[in-house]
Amino acid sequence: MAKVLLEKVKRRFNNVTAIEDISFEIPDGEFWVLVGPSGCGKSTILRTIAGLETATSGNLYIGDRLVNDIPARARDVAMVFQNYALYPHMTVAQNIGFGLEMRKIDPKTIQERVLKVARSLSLEYLLDRKPKQLSGGQQQRVALGRAIARQPQLFLLDEPLSNLDAQLRDDTRAELKQLHQQLGITTIYVTHDQVEAMTLADKIVVLNRGRIQQIGDPQSIYALPANEMVATFLGNPPMNILPAIYKGDNFDVSGQLLAVPKNIKAALSLQPEQICNLGIRPEHIYINKYINEYINEPQNHREEELGGLLAEVKVVEPLGREILIRTSLSGSSGWLNVQVARDVRLHPGERLNLQLDLSHLFVFNPSNGNRIFPIA
Ligand SMILES: Nc1ncnc2c1ncn2[C@@H]1O[C@H](COP(=O)(O)OP(=O)(O)OP(=O)(O)O)[C@@H](O)[C@H]1O
Ligand SMILES: [Mg+2]
Repeated sequence: MAKVLLEKVKRRFNNVTAIEDISFEIPDGEFWVLVGPSGCGKSTILRTIAGLETATSGNLYIGDRLVNDIPARARDVAMVFQNYALYPHMTVAQNIGFGLEMRKIDPKTIQERVLKVARSLSLEYLLDRKPKQLSGGQQQRVALGRAIARQPQLFLLDEPLSNLDAQLRDDTRAELKQLHQQLGITTIYVTHDQVEAMTLADKIVVLNRGRIQQIGDPQSIYALPANEMVATFLGNPPMNILPAIYKGDNFDVSGQLLAVPKNIKAALSLQPEQICNLGIRPEHIYINKYINEYINEPQNHREEELGGLLAEVKVVEPLGREILIRTSLSGSSGWLNVQVARDVRLHPGERLNLQLDLSHLFVFNPSNGNRIFPIA
């Protein structure tokens, strides 16, 4: 087991900078998740830590050892790739025990450890099979088992669940978390799946275009995303972003007025007519009442004074536990997604008065995406 420290790590491929200024310190035994869209540099960071890539600049420590010039095989890390490769001529048991045999550990200890690992991954009844006699999900768990059996000081997992179907993926995710709780091996896990990131991580590192956007525990990143990218990446369905013009007492959202709460007004240093982006999660929008009766009637003004926004139902998506209502704001081409209880019955074309819970409103600077409210 070991802590991991990266200091300003950078990796260039010819003239492409894959990762830049990557610095973080993972305390011994923690489970960290690197998350971000495709191409943001997740695998490059992991491969650099493993020693499969060389950093163009920066320093990398595993434990207290500077490993910049230490070859991969001497770093005592185990890595599981998305495209795991099992030895086809070996049984499951031999595959899991392979790393131990290489280290000349005595056969009895190997057998015991293989059995223990196989049990923890529900593979014990498959130990005598060859890889081609296994399903994709079983093969992936054997690859995980092989890494676990070695008991390295550091685990590097690159999208290890991506080949599994949804159910198996959920189960294996929980098994992985439990295994980490038992073994306590420092783990770095790469995924672009924000549910995996939220559920597994002690700390999440959100990446975009080769740079760190935010580091924090899942709950605090969700509650206080540093910028629009993080805000819209973590959370499903994602946070709504509404372009607006600050009018002092109101935000002008596509011609509809939303009263600016006192605390936001006091905190913001926006000038009147300045543009900003408002952020609100789908679970923080309520449907105040139906307004079918008087849409396009003068009463609309009264509705607007409530601080709500008028919208029309476009698409209704039942998600089981709740329903996602995709609406379009009156006067705007943009969509606003609202999460409602599963017994709410709404239909495309219906007009709604949406009430935004302004205690959960975010304000972002549209020029750089940074959060300007709430202030940390
Ligand atoms: N060997 C290479 N040569 C040139 N460019 C590379 C090489 N490896 C990676 N890159 C580039 O570096 C960037 C980061 O790639 P990386 O594989 O780390 O992304 P990723 O976050 O793992 O993406 P994904 O989620 O698709 O796996 C990408 O723009 C990629 O094209
Ligand atoms: Mg990758």
